[in-house]
Amino acid sequence: MFDLPLVVERGAGPLRDQLVRQLRAAMRDGRLAAGERLPSGRALAASLGVSRTVVTEAYEQLYAEGWIEGRHGSGTYVTDIVSEAHRPRAAAPEAPRVEREPAAAGTIDLRPGTAFTGSLDTPAWRRAWRLAASAPLDERTDPRGQAGLRAELAEYLRRSRGVVCPPDRIVVTRGATSGLALTAAAVLRPGLRVGVEEPGFGKARAVLAARGLEVVPCRVDGHGLVVADLPDDLALVYTTPSHQYPLGGVLPVPRRQALVAWARRTGALVAEDDYDGEFRFDVAPLPALHGLDPDVVVYLGTTAKILTSRIGVGWLAARPDLAAAVARYRESVNDRAPDLAQEALRVLLARGDLDRHVRRMRGEYARRRAVATDALAGLDLRGDTAGLHLVVALPAGAAERVRREAAERGVLVDALGRYQTTEPELSGLVIGYGAAPDADALRTGCSLVRELAAAARDRDPRAGAARAAAARAPRAAAAGRPADSPRPASPAR
Ligand SMILES: Cc1ncc(COP(=O)(O)O)c(C=O)c1O
Repeated sequence: MFDLPLVVERGAGPLRDQLVRQLRAAMRDGRLAAGERLPSGRALAASLGVSRTVVTEAYEQLYAEGWIEGRHGSGTYVTDIVSEAHRPRAAAPEAPRVEREPAAAGTIDLRPGTAFTGSLDTPAWRRAWRLAASAPLDERTDPRGQAGLRAELAEYLRRSRGVVCPPDRIVVTRGATSGLALTAAAVLRPGLRVGVEEPGFGKARAVLAARGLEVVPCRVDGHGLVVADLPDDLALVYTTPSHQYPLGGVLPVPRRQALVAWARRTGALVAEDDYDGEFRFDVAPLPALHGLDPDVVVYLGTTAKILTSRIGVGWLAARPDLAAAVARYRESVNDRAPDLAQEALRVLLARGDLDRHVRRMRGEYARRRAVATDALAGLDLRGDTAGLHLVVALPAGAAERVRREAAERGVLVDALGRYQTTEPELSGLVIGYGAAPDADALRTGCSLVRELAAAARDRDPRAGAARAAAARAPRAAAAGRPADSPRPASPAR
């Protein structure tokens, strides 16, 4: 039952903002609890004596900030993450919504974060699981993970990502997010300040906030993290240098050097999330940042993009004392990656099947990227030289409208605002090309986005000004593709 007293006053600022502030405060201090249902837009508008648009816009803002979620056909609810990340003990900033409603049947899901798994079920995949299931179980598990897998990972990281790290400095985790959470828990005291890219990966913010760390948003532009702006009092900064999530910049070498120099000078750690570093299309990938200075960079890897997140295995590579601290911590809390999955991954690596799969998927994603960029032609695309997603920059205001209209017509994309906790410098949509079942669905979804974006741009009076400003400003000044990198040619289908 919703009985929260809400008051909006005419003449005291925009009604929408008043409503957003009051609802946000109620969710932060627990008067509105996780899972609680909010009244319908119509009901709340009637009880407050405001137009329905005021309530709809307020809900959209809270949705973009991750406070509330819509469950298909059954209303609007306070997200679970709110109570988790806002426990009074954790003097942490607002955590974003991290859960998403599942896509209903018939929708085309173009939200980022999901790998294409349609071609995973190969004889090699089945063989790996069969062998894993029949391998003898050793109850004395090493807290760093299976020794055989760590030896294979050391080789894989060297050949695929230029990470040179002996097996005893590798810890098998349950994924990149788990690696970040373990690192924070093992070596950072609650209350310390840590940086996360803004816009950035909401789950990274959430696990750091859950540890009681103060999360500081760190600016990002079209090249990735703006290293020159990093404050000196951070204990750790979380970054995605291979393919900034979600804007897609690839951190240039001078900034990489500046980042490790900053970490050396300030004593901070750099958590490098190399979640999709294997997928670079037009030029050779830059090796992982870790190689520049393994003493200050903790490398976080995952099977989530190269195979599937359902395996629940990732890895971290760190200097010896950090790897040992992580291993001690996880032993103390009895955390480990699933043994069968570790063994299956070891088999895939040892037989060269993982490398073959990654090569196949690089081709698949290159074709998908070509389909997406063709279908979105004419729009301002950013960050599409790597990974499994791209950004469509749109004038402020248009992005959320296009997202909503596309969802109403069965195509799910994310608005950039979802990845922000502060006022966005760039607005637009994030489109993933992993989750679509095939190229036709991807083309259909992207074509609808183009149609809606073009219509929204033409309707929006700010669009003309924004277009003119974009034409005047060098690309590198805004977040997105660096000014000096030409649009790559699309690979042939
Ligand atoms: C930036 C980023 N890092 C990591 C992951 C995967 O994390 P995990 O290995 O914890 O599933 C994702 C998945 O969407 C991601 O977007």
